Amino acid sequence: MTTIPIKDVEYEQPVAGADGVVCSTRHAWARVPPEPSPAERAALKDQIRRLLKEKNAVMVSHYYVHPDLQDLAEETGGIVSDSLEMARFGRDHPARTLVVSGVRFMGETAKILSPDKTVLMPDLDATCSLDLGCPIDEFSAFCDAHPDRTVVVYANTSAAVKARADWLVTSSCALDIVRALKDAGHKILWAPDRHLGDYIRRETGADMVLWNGACIVHDEFKAFELEALKKEHPNAKVLVHPESPADVIALADAVGSTSAILKAARTLDAREFIVATDNGMMHKLRSLNPDKVFYEAPTAGNSATCKSCAHCPWMAMNGLAGVAHALQTGAGAITVDPALIPRARQPIDRMLAFTAALHSGQPAGALVPHIGAA
Ligand code: 13P
Ligand code: SF4
Repeated sequence: MTTIPIKDVEYEQPVAGADGVVCSTRHAWARVPPEPSPAERAALKDQIRRLLKEKNAVMVSHYYVHPDLQDLAEETGGIVSDSLEMARFGRDHPARTLVVSGVRFMGETAKILSPDKTVLMPDLDATCSLDLGCPIDEFSAFCDAHPDRTVVVYANTSAAVKARADWLVTSSCALDIVRALKDAGHKILWAPDRHLGDYIRRETGADMVLWNGACIVHDEFKAFELEALKKEHPNAKVLVHPESPADVIALADAVGSTSAILKAARTLDAREFIVATDNGMMHKLRSLNPDKVFYEAPTAGNSATCKSCAHCPWMAMNGLAGVAHALQTGAGAITVDPALIPRARQPIDRMLAFTAALHSGQPAGALVPHIGAA
């Protein structure tokens, strides 16, 4: 296996604040909005409902953001979904403004796909450790060192990294796309998530070199403790997002994206589940399966490090007040360098065409050029 060292990104260490909060990727946690009171919550929701109509806007939320932003998106005709469906929905919806609650790469992808729409986010500083850990200069050098390889990047990357890629994938479609590339004779350069890349390589047998990035949330799940929890709940099935370490994936009954985890919870023959992904997922898992019981997979524990509470600090930065403010004032508008857009769009369009073909039963593999073909 070839890997390159992860770019050193300073995730700040825990600091016990006056409020006793020890879990801190400090910049992000300091920006997490306070919980509104019931009266404030009702007023903010009313304001957002009104502004969405006035501004011809629609909400696009990820499963990891606050339940208020998930429920309001659905109630007002928007969507709560995984990163792949968020991209497709934003591209296809006729609204002139998209309010994306999630992290920055999701807003950027929406903007690349719809440059004429206004794309707003509650907090533009909501980023992702995978994006931070894959700066374009180093990534370009890595690509230059492997000119014979097809460049496949995860959606959790900057517009500039996407503009260097041949294919974009999310965890919903990475296996299918890499398998098709392998079948067509491609050797692959993969970035940035090492766990997801390694999982895809194990499953497909593709020839892959990997960038050495990680998700600070999923990287914290622990196999030893998960085995102990399985013993406490012997009938529980284990659902794992593939950004988790290999020894955690090895204990899974189902491995997949956020939407695949939701599907497995609905379809697997079990009443209890242990879930190894961001605990923002619990809202949808529990509301769609009220008769089932969901346990969080163990990390080192809330007080262990600034990253180990199984919730993404950047996702947590999204709140009702930020959505209302963005809609009211136009603050939080995503911009992407127009010079980058046409090239960054290519790998995204390929992914969306491939997955559309796959879901409609068309031969998606036909969309992958064969190496050596004229
Ligand atoms: P999904 O594509 O599964 O929604 O995941 C996005 C993400 O950031 C997971 O940490
Ligand atoms: Fe990035 Fe992990 Fe947060 Fe997802 S959960 S946005 S991969 S840091």
